[in-house]
Amino acid sequence: MLIKQPDDPLETEAQRLLYSLMYVDCSAGRKWNIETCREIAPLTLEINRLKREKNAVILTHSYVEPEIIYGVGDFRGDSYYLSARAREAKADVIVFAGVVFMAETAKILSPDAQVVVPDRGSACTLADSITGEDVRRLKALYPDAAVVCYINSTAQVKAESDVCVTSSNVYDIVSGLAEKRIVFVPDRLMAENIRKELAARGVEKEIISSDGTCIVHEEFTPEQIAQARENFPGLKVAAHPECTPEVAEQADFLGSTGAMMKYVKSTDAPYYLMLTECGLVGRLAVEEPDKNFIGGCRLCPYMKLNSLQNIHRALSDPQPDQLITIDDDLSRRAARCIDRMFELAP
Ligand code: 13P
Ligand code: SF4
Repeated sequence: MLIKQPDDPLETEAQRLLYSLMYVDCSAGRKWNIETCREIAPLTLEINRLKREKNAVILTHSYVEPEIIYGVGDFRGDSYYLSARAREAKADVIVFAGVVFMAETAKILSPDAQVVVPDRGSACTLADSITGEDVRRLKALYPDAAVVCYINSTAQVKAESDVCVTSSNVYDIVSGLAEKRIVFVPDRLMAENIRKELAARGVEKEIISSDGTCIVHEEFTPEQIAQARENFPGLKVAAHPECTPEVAEQADFLGSTGAMMKYVKSTDAPYYLMLTECGLVGRLAVEEPDKNFIGGCRLCPYMKLNSLQNIHRALSDPQPDQLITIDDDLSRRAARCIDRMFELAP
């Protein structure tokens, strides 16, 4: 049997990966063992070397595969956290392992950096549900309204909006706006959750919304929660505000993916049901290995387009379709609404 030397960098990398990934379940069970970690160790080492050579950072949304988050990612988190990291990045290159609207936001916030996206097909049903032209039409219909866009939107939509929000600050920002009437785009279900939350806070606003939904979160049901509570006594349910209001009402906690993680870390329950994308459960398996997650999460096909291979390509030899470019004037207009978010919710 071949005995690996402890100072073999490949073996050291494989051990490092195993230490992070061993508790991660996938649909086929536990995928990560020392052999599978050895298979990816050369590529993770090479990506990490390229990062140093190119003064690059890799931002990883919590929904991407854990071998990306823990193998090569520099920062991991939700949309707000990653936007803040993109804004302050001193890097020459930013690789955004997430979806295209997130990489676009990073480019708007760090216009001098080369921003690359591993797979140009990493879309988002919310971002793709409405155009800048649609927002202009809504503004003409409701000229007295403040236009609030969820960060899951294109640069064109951001350029037409007064303020951007993420799932971590949406309620506070919308409550604090002077305008009584709000046009909220593009998430219809989040708009319903805003109406309910503002009513609970005693804040009077009229929320007009467009009709987008997230294909992942719209599928969760209150029946799923009821069934899970019956099967797992003591279960705690955490949901994302892109879920339906019926689901939100039945959950023990509603918040951004970052807030959902904090909720699990700060509560003590025998079981958890995470009503969001499965990547978050992967992160929790790594960071909270003693807690029990009962499944029921769903996959975002767009987030799952990120791989170590296309991240390597984006760093070593970026293809034209991996480069994010935004017209200067559009970028300046879109930056205004994101900067306003940072002013209102630092
Ligand atoms: P978070 O900002 O809460 O991570 O949400 C992003 C997202 O796309 C949820 O589907
Ligand atoms: Fe968009 Fe939904 Fe995927 Fe998030 S999970 S990126 S909202 S499609």
